[in-house]
Amino acid sequence: MQKAPRMARALAGALAAAALAGSAIQASADPVEGVDLVVNNEITLTTRAPAPAHLDGALPEVMSGWLFREDATRAMQMDDFDNPAMVFADMGRDLWGTTDGAEGKSCASCHGNIEEMRGVRAHMPRISPAGDDLWSMENFVNNCRTTRMGAEAWGWDSNEMMNMTAALSLQSRGLPVDVAIDGPAAPWWEKGREIYYTRFGQLELACSNCHQDHFGDMIRADHLSQGQINGFPVYRLKTAGLVSIHNRFKGCVRDTRAETFKPGSAEFRALELYVASRGQGLSVEGVSVRP
Ligand code: HEC
Ligand code: HEC
Repeated sequence: MQKAPRMARALAGALAAAALAGSAIQASADPVEGVDLVVNNEITLTTRAPAPAHLDGALPEVMSGWLFREDATRAMQMDDFDNPAMVFADMGRDLWGTTDGAEGKSCASCHGNIEEMRGVRAHMPRISPAGDDLWSMENFVNNCRTTRMGAEAWGWDSNEMMNMTAALSLQSRGLPVDVAIDGPAAPWWEKGREIYYTRFGQLELACSNCHQDHFGDMIRADHLSQGQINGFPVYRLKTAGLVSIHNRFKGCVRDTRAETFKPGSAEFRALELYVASRGQGLSVEGVSVRP
């Protein structure tokens, strides 16, 4: 009895290895053509953009994960009433106005309406105010909570944090992803790129092996996208909840049967910057819907 799970794991590993050898990856399901992502019949989002120069031809163009999803899943993202993520973004908006911590302040006390945060998500992650670190949106939020509100930091993948990042991302919906990768961000970007092309785990797979070499192909039941993060945080139908960027990275690294980095780690923040830069020009989608 005890051996069963181990055998199942070994079998799954062999299957995945076979997938890599080519037998389970089928080049049969390209991204959908000729459709536009228009939300509420009102906001047209850019789901295809010219590949940034730094990619050196590694991708023909950059594409939103939305293009790789089934019709029904794509449709949910086209109307805020059908988008299950909106409930969470609304909760984030409520938190924005909620007083917390020793200073008796809410986010709104200093920042005003949450609409004032338009543009912020498009430039994340970015160099910290002190200039010596790379911060994701989560770090900025927690910095305000701990140093300015006298409140406790939220966990990276806590509901509060995900709801807040959803509400904040929504304010930048439709703006092009535009992260700085030069100056003090350059070493972070280099580090992120290195991680992206490093083969991890028993399966010896790099991010690029799936999301660059095989986007558009099926890997077992999954339609591989370019692994872009312009739609994050995303609502996953499978888990009926939001998923952060770093949590998605964690899942992908784990799928290669490797030890993974922690959400919030320097490695994942560097990787986030690099992956964001691979999607320069795609629209921030606010909160998107995934299987
Ligand atoms: C006591 C005032 C104060 C409070 C309360 C406060 N912030 Fe801030 N926040 C600031 C200041 C000051 C900055 C840095 C100013 C700047 O970069 O323009 C900042 C920066 C930020 C940034 C980065 C903005 C950017 O342009 O990159 C985010 C995101 C943010 N705050 C979110 C929040 C959230 C979420 C809350 C509530 C949980 C909050 N803040 C509460 C004062 C505050
Ligand atoms: C074995 C193949 C494989 C590897 C290796 C892999 N992923 Fe993924 N990844 C997937 C699959 C399958 C999905 C779900 C379908 C999709 O969007 O591609 C996914 C989804 C994603 C998504 C969500 C995209 C969206 O639009 O919702 C991101 C982001 C991502 N991966 C990033 C990465 C990063 C970064 C790495 C390297 C640390 C990586 N992946 C390694 C298979 C892989």
